[in-house]
Amino acid sequence: MNLKPYLITGGAGFIGSNFIHHALDVRSDWRIVNLDALTYSGNPANLTGLPPECADRHRLVQGDIRDPELLQRLFRENRFSGVIHFAAESHVDRSILGPDLFLETNVMGTFRLLEAAKAFWAAEGKPEDFRFIHISTDEVYGSLGPDGLFTEQTPYDPSSPYSASKAGSDHLVKAYFRTYDLPVVVTNCSNNYGPYQFPEKLIPLMILNILEEKPLPVYGDGKNVRDWLYVRDHCEALMAALDKGVPGETYNIGGNEERRNIDIIHLLCETMDARLDRSGAAAGKRLIRFVADRPGHDRRYAIDASKIRETLDWRPRHGFEEALEATVDWYLSHMDWVNAVRTGLYRKWMKDNYDDRVEK
Ligand code: NAD
Ligand code: DAU
Repeated sequence: MNLKPYLITGGAGFIGSNFIHHALDVRSDWRIVNLDALTYSGNPANLTGLPPECADRHRLVQGDIRDPELLQRLFRENRFSGVIHFAAESHVDRSILGPDLFLETNVMGTFRLLEAAKAFWAAEGKPEDFRFIHISTDEVYGSLGPDGLFTEQTPYDPSSPYSASKAGSDHLVKAYFRTYDLPVVVTNCSNNYGPYQFPEKLIPLMILNILEEKPLPVYGDGKNVRDWLYVRDHCEALMAALDKGVPGETYNIGGNEERRNIDIIHLLCETMDARLDRSGAAAGKRLIRFVADRPGHDRRYAIDASKIRETLDWRPRHGFEEALEATVDWYLSHMDWVNAVRTGLYRKWMKDNYDDRVEK
């Protein structure tokens, strides 16, 4: 069979690896080249356990999206049908403590990838079915008040170096459509959760801290709201954007599951108490600590996903409470994975980000 080659960047990270599992499962005619620099959040172990017939169609290339020669070689050798671009620095707190890398990876890396894709696509005679899918975030829209939703028309108003760098990359991707006709599709998604998420992000961090009876650091008053989406639902949305998305268009993706941080933490404490048979003075809620807020902390995100629902026929299939329980169980049954990703670098990060946060 003639396999269709796709370039996936950042496929050893959280969402990228879930997407590769999904794509190899539902697309038997795909061959994937997974370009990943294997930074602290990229882990080849996220891709172990693929069935042999799938593993043969996946190749991990350790390399950097900022490397034009490598990109050129990969395009020349593989003649990709499309690019699905996940690679990024993704954690807001890290962008506050060290913004440089976010600009380099998210803006310059995306620029290098666009250049390589454009050169290949032009040399091939500008095939209409080529696609460049750019995975972005709802954080580019800034913060909402108590009402309203982000639509695709909401003006960009990023608050953190992370979201500003993602906004910059989105603008570049759209400019390559307007200026060069490169067939791009941009997706802006809300907060994901599920297997393989690096335990610096709220949900896995809280699960592991409850397990290990460490403090649960709640930024500010804990009433910031995020719109949560199970990662597998995001992967299905991206497949719909690849198959049916209109070049030049943007699609917002969200779970319609708004939750306050503190409510999620309470729910995780209760779920973990049940799993670990803890109650009374041993219950997880005793570990909650309100700490200094994240600077520039966006108050509320909420997505209007009607465009992707109505035009691409996508909707999430997992409810929040049920998928959160499945996520808890995944972490509890994958402690080898957890221990492998929590290297010395992880411990340094926890110290840098949390040690100076004052308890309120
Ligand atoms: P992640 O940090 O888990 O994974 C990022 C991956 O990119 C890692 O495997 C890392 O090694 C790789 N990478 C980093 N720099 C690279 C470089 N220069 N060259 C090649 N590879 C590099 O992130 P994630 O949560 O999986 O996010 C993936 C994408 O989805 C990002 O673009 C992020 O902005 C976007 N996004 C994430 C969420 C979320 O909730 N996690 C929501 C919306 C959008
Ligand atoms: O909205 C999409 C974005 O979601 C993605 O673009 C980002 O890549 C992803 O990291 C995520 O960003 P957030 O900043 O919303 O996620 P995080 O898990 O860092 O934090 C979620 C909320 O929990 C946020 O309001 C901050 C708060 N928080 C986080 C941590 C790590 C705490 O209260 N305590 C913590 O220790």
